[in-house]
Amino acid sequence: MCGIVGYVGEKQALEVVVEGLRKLEYRGYDSAGVAVVSGDHLDVRKKAGKLANLESLLGTDPLASSTIGIGHTRWATHGGPTDANAHPHVSEDGRVAVIHNGIIENFAELRAELTAAGVTLSSETDTEVVAHILARSLPAVGGDLAEAMRHTCQRLEGAFTLVAVVADDTDVVVAARRNSPLVVGLGQGENFLASDVSAFVAYTREALELGQDQVVSITREGVTITDFDGVAVEAKPFTVTWDAAAAEKGGHDTFMMKEIYEQPKSVADALRGRVGTDGRLQLDEMRLSDSDLREIDKIVVIACGTAYHAGLVAKYAIEHWTRIPVDVELASEFRYRDPIVDDRTLTIAISQSGETMDTLMALRYAREQGSKALAICNTVGSTIPRESDAVLYTYAGPEIAVASTKAFLTQIIAAYLVGLYLAQVRGNMFGDEIASVMRDLQDMPQAVDRVLDTVEPVTELARELAAVPSVLFIGRHVGYPVALEGALKLKELAYMHAEGFAAGELKHGPIALIEEGVPVVVVVPSPRGRATLHDKIISNMQEVRARGARTIVIAEEGDETVVPYADHIIRVPVVPTLMQPLVSTVPLQVFACAMATAKGHDVDQPRNLAKSVTVE
Ligand code: AGP
Repeated sequence: MCGIVGYVGEKQALEVVVEGLRKLEYRGYDSAGVAVVSGDHLDVRKKAGKLANLESLLGTDPLASSTIGIGHTRWATHGGPTDANAHPHVSEDGRVAVIHNGIIENFAELRAELTAAGVTLSSETDTEVVAHILARSLPAVGGDLAEAMRHTCQRLEGAFTLVAVVADDTDVVVAARRNSPLVVGLGQGENFLASDVSAFVAYTREALELGQDQVVSITREGVTITDFDGVAVEAKPFTVTWDAAAAEKGGHDTFMMKEIYEQPKSVADALRGRVGTDGRLQLDEMRLSDSDLREIDKIVVIACGTAYHAGLVAKYAIEHWTRIPVDVELASEFRYRDPIVDDRTLTIAISQSGETMDTLMALRYAREQGSKALAICNTVGSTIPRESDAVLYTYAGPEIAVASTKAFLTQIIAAYLVGLYLAQVRGNMFGDEIASVMRDLQDMPQAVDRVLDTVEPVTELARELAAVPSVLFIGRHVGYPVALEGALKLKELAYMHAEGFAAGELKHGPIALIEEGVPVVVVVPSPRGRATLHDKIISNMQEVRARGARTIVIAEEGDETVVPYADHIIRVPVVPTLMQPLVSTVPLQVFACAMATAKGHDVDQPRNLAKSVTVE
């Protein structure tokens, strides 16, 4: 998720573009760059690090004056956060500059094609291939940048918002979008392009929403929109009612709610590009060889907090698919228990930030014992993936709220991909079995989207319970880590006691906590899965209900057996057993967010917490 700005008008483009990037910096902040059209050439500056680094560079090495330009603030996906990988990317002849938000799934074959044609690529990014293809398309279309963009888009697979300018054309900025956000700002004698309205709302509130597979050209006089075949299309105008701050949150009150609503897209992005043209799983930075992976006889997952819960969920799936024993360890405990780790152990470090010191120190310890290491991480180029043998990025985009939501769902997806990849390499599953699971996973973005329909009733329930002193969470099988995650969310946001249990443990002590009115959230497994698990948790519901508990039941649509024992039922879509955490967690995220809001807490920056815990 990157920040993109394009401008053409009467103002100094650099000023408008940099101001827009400031508003979009929450979308990505590991490098930034700008390009303006000055006479017959492009003037480009780009720099790793935060936007301030680019501004310092511009202070000492100013851009030419221009009233047309583009700018980008990056959240790295392909290629680390370096000057060379920063956008804009420029074609070999220096005539085309392009910026990009998204993931081009077929970039590897396009890179190979360009290299074979003698093009020298100067970055590790997927974006650079677009600059070269655009420039090489121009001559055949008489230098028409919009037509070149249409030709180029027809060769791209994946998700992309592209914005480009060409040297010696000081009148037009051209953009295209598929599966990635882009809006047009409509001014007087000036027009804007951006990832979201916060970049231009200071100049205009009149905007156009673009549809899928469209190319837009903006000039000082107007806006032209076509589909990828060049057929003119109408865009839907709207007036921005948000202020810039609200626009950064996509109109939501908090980044956390914005990120909860981003989860369908994040899950889709985590799955994007993982299957090759041969139908087999391909994990882009899995630098461990097949023989390395065949020698593995044990997996250790190390992580903290929510990432640890993702590891607990993953254990059920990875063991089920690969028959490799999986230990899931709290990173802060791992190296002090003298663990049994050797060169046949695969250590999987799960971390959104990639900088959590507990996890990093545990990773270093495991590697000192000879273990192979694979990172599951959301932050490209961060320390944990850099110190691992292989990495699977989750592509969730920047997670601003301290309480982890979309990172959690995409960590589960990534861990599942690792499990399926191991099963593929080691032959534990047939190709058609793996393909079947992948098809189920491809249905998850829509399933997660449907759960968002429960936001309102869950919010109402949270408001009703805002004064309770404690909430208990119980679950079985993959529902047990969900119970733990629901309790953690409530602790870190509502600052109240909450505890998650394996439902089977209730009778071994915790049931003594049950008394009149105690809220118990029950994460119910599907009756279509292991029937005994479902029957047993129904018994647990009866046990706590009989002692006065107020049961809040997360159950799949159509499961009517829970009705007699539920004070509140929150329905989730029917999905395969191993994928239930992807839907049953969402209401618990919303519940905690709403409870914290009802208590007047700062949801995005809860007290005492940091987004990345870089101390042990
Ligand atoms: C979860 O809501 C918390 N923000 C926290 O538990 C977090 O998951 C943990 O600190 C691990 O962070 P990491 O994923 O960046 O390593």
